[in-house]
Formats: sequence, structure tokens, C-alpha cells
Amino acid sequence: MTRALPAFGGWSATAESPAFAPASLVEAARRFREPVALVQDPASGAVGVGFGGQGVAGDPAATGAWPLLASLSPLYPEWLGDRSFTDTHGLRFPYVAGAMANGISTARLVAEMGAAGFLGFFGAAGLAYDRIVAGLDEIERLLPDPAMAWGANLIHSPTEPDLERAAADLFVKRGVKRVSASAFMKLTPSVVRYAAAACGSSPTAASTASTTSSPRSAGPRSPATSWSPRRIACWRPWSPKAP
Ligand SMILES: Cc1cc2nc3c(=O)[nH]c(=O)nc-3n(C[C@H](O)[C@H](O)[C@H](O)COP(=O)(O)O)c2cc1C
Repeated sequence: MTRALPAFGGWSATAESPAFAPASLVEAARRFREPVALVQDPASGAVGVGFGGQGVAGDPAATGAWPLLASLSPLYPEWLGDRSFTDTHGLRFPYVAGAMANGISTARLVAEMGAAGFLGFFGAAGLAYDRIVAGLDEIERLLPDPAMAWGANLIHSPTEPDLERAAADLFVKRGVKRVSASAFMKLTPSVVRYAAAACGSSPTAASTASTTSSPRSAGPRSPATSWSPRRIACWRPWSPKAP
């Protein structure tokens, strides 16, 4: 005997029958932008999902409708997070693919993230200077639109201060607008130089973006085109104070 779960109404399909099979449920999980009716098959007790359709008043046992267990609202990934984050960076989605050292976050990953409306950071840490240059070249080559958002990692390199300085200078020279500064336990001349290059041309530069939650509307965003580097992430705690 099947156990009837508490239903708060009925639901009837219009265009397509509800899905109960595991493979169909996996497929249905991709349709998160559509409202979903969670229904139970009174015969088998299986719980499934329905799209479209309509609510039916009255006892489902009497009306013949599927018992309706819950209604799920559409979910738009564009609506997650803080709208100011997507506005600031000209993104569609409030998602960041963090830098992963030694080029694990590849130029291609960064370019594809940017093209899809996400924000990716090139894993410049641990790479020789020439490979960082090559990575920036490749990102610029692969990115469909130079205004699309992307960034690179400026990592603190206490044992290689020249490399840290050269990377910061390179990011300034090449106009890399977003830098994820990581492993800094205190400010160094290189990271200050990068931030100062931003402050010289934009009053809002070097501000810290956040990803707190608030709803917002979907829709295309205008990519930020001005030269305004921003520190958006720190891998290790950032301390502006002297030790
Ligand atoms: C293999 C690997 C390498 C990473 N290298 C760096 C790095 O060089 N610089 C950095 O700021 N973060 C680095 N990270 C941290 C990631 O950018 C990211 O912040 C972290 O994985 C947390 O995100 P997650 O919870 O989505 O994994 C690395 C992470 C991984 C897994």
C-alpha cells in the first residue's frame, strides 16, 4: 500500500505528463527557470515533477488530478547575490571562478567564463613572467569582446619580490582591470602600486566588491568599460596595518 503524502490541492497536466523516472528527474532539474509542480502518483506513491499544467481545486481523489505536494518558483541564477556586483563588473551571473595557481585557471577558462557572463581569474601565481604575458595575450585573443570581465591573480611572492613587482607592473601596463590579490599578509609596494594606478583615474577604484544576497531583475548588463581596477578577493587575510 502506498503512503499518500500531504497534498494541498490538485494539478493537471496540459502539454506534458509529469516526470517520475530517475532519468527524467535529472533532466527536469535542468529546467530551474520554470515553475514546477511537485506531485505524487497515487497508484505507486512515487513523487514527480510537472511543468506547465494548472491547479485543480478540490480533493484530487475526487477530481482525478495529481495530488499537488508543493509548487516551486522559478530560480534565475542571475538573481542570486548582490546586484551591485554584477553591475560593477558587467556580469550576467554573480559567480567568480577563483584563480588557481600555476595556470590551473587557464586563459581559456577565464575567456570562456567572461564570454558566458561570469568572472574568471587567471592563475598567474607560480608562473614565470613570460607565461603570465602569454596568458594575458591568450585571454585577449580568445575573449569575444574586450569589454567582457576577467581578471588575473597577483600573488605575494616573498621569495621572488622582482616577480611580484613585474607582475603588478605588467597588470598596470596591460590595463588588467581586475586583480585578485592573494597571500598578502601586509601591503607591499607592488600591490599598492597596482591599487594606486587605479586610484589615479577613478574615484571608486580599489573598492571591494561583495556578494551578499538580495533579489534583483535579470537582463543584459552593460560591461564596465572604464579603467577601474578593483581588489575583489584575498586568498589569505588582508592586513593593511604594518606588522
Ligand atoms: C588547486 C588550487 C589552486 C589555487 N590557487 C590559488 C591562487 O593561486 N590564488 C588564489 O587567490 N586562490 C587560489 N585558490 C583558491 C581558489 O581561487 C578559490 O578561492 C577557492 O578554491 C575557494 O573557492 P571554492 O570554494 O569554489 O573552491 C586555489 C584553489 C585551488 C583548488
